[in-house]
Amino acid sequence: TLTAASLIIGAYLLGSVSSAIIVCRLMGLPDPRTQGSNNPGATNVLRIGGARAKPAAAITLLGDSIKGLLPMLAAHALGAAPVALAATGLAAFLGHLYPVFFGFRGGKGVATALGVQFGLYWPVGLCVAGIWLFVAKVLRISSASALVSMALAPFIVWWFRPDPALILMQVIITVLLFIRHSSNIRNLLSGDEGRIGTDSADNG
Ligand code: G3P
Repeated sequence: TLTAASLIIGAYLLGSVSSAIIVCRLMGLPDPRTQGSNNPGATNVLRIGGARAKPAAAITLLGDSIKGLLPMLAAHALGAAPVALAATGLAAFLGHLYPVFFGFRGGKGVATALGVQFGLYWPVGLCVAGIWLFVAKVLRISSASALVSMALAPFIVWWFRPDPALILMQVIITVLLFIRHSSNIRNLLSGDEGRIGTDSADNG
């Protein structure tokens, strides 16, 4: 339908707006694509260091989450069916990974996936965020927290919203997110992955 098509296109365009790149530009910080892991995401903005990096990372996290949250809330408000909801969430996530405004080279999708999950059904987002925070507290490694929480996310969606389209959406998001974290996974296995707030990350 026209509504579903508009939701999907709108979600993709919004997802394509890179919070990390824009926030760093506005706050006079270096382009995150030239720093640390080169990833335009909140973790790597934090790595830039200095007084402004923390607020910049927080705004990046919030901005990238809202990109997933808003389209899902709009889809709910318009009474979208599960298939349209799933396509909308996937479109926002794909926008962040493959942004039309930044040469299709985007981020790794953790914050945007979280926004999609909160927008899908807030307890799903709360569970995934809770697992992320718990692993981050224990290990202090952003990528490990993301990988553990997103690996469990399909089961969490299954638990709260047992709909095939929604579960499939989360499975696709999780698979793409793992592929995007391949350099992080390599570094985790070799023990070289940087910890949160330190500048030792050369994921390339
Ligand atoms: O949000 C991405 C995070 O999981 C890893 O980012 O910069 O450490 O590769 P980074």
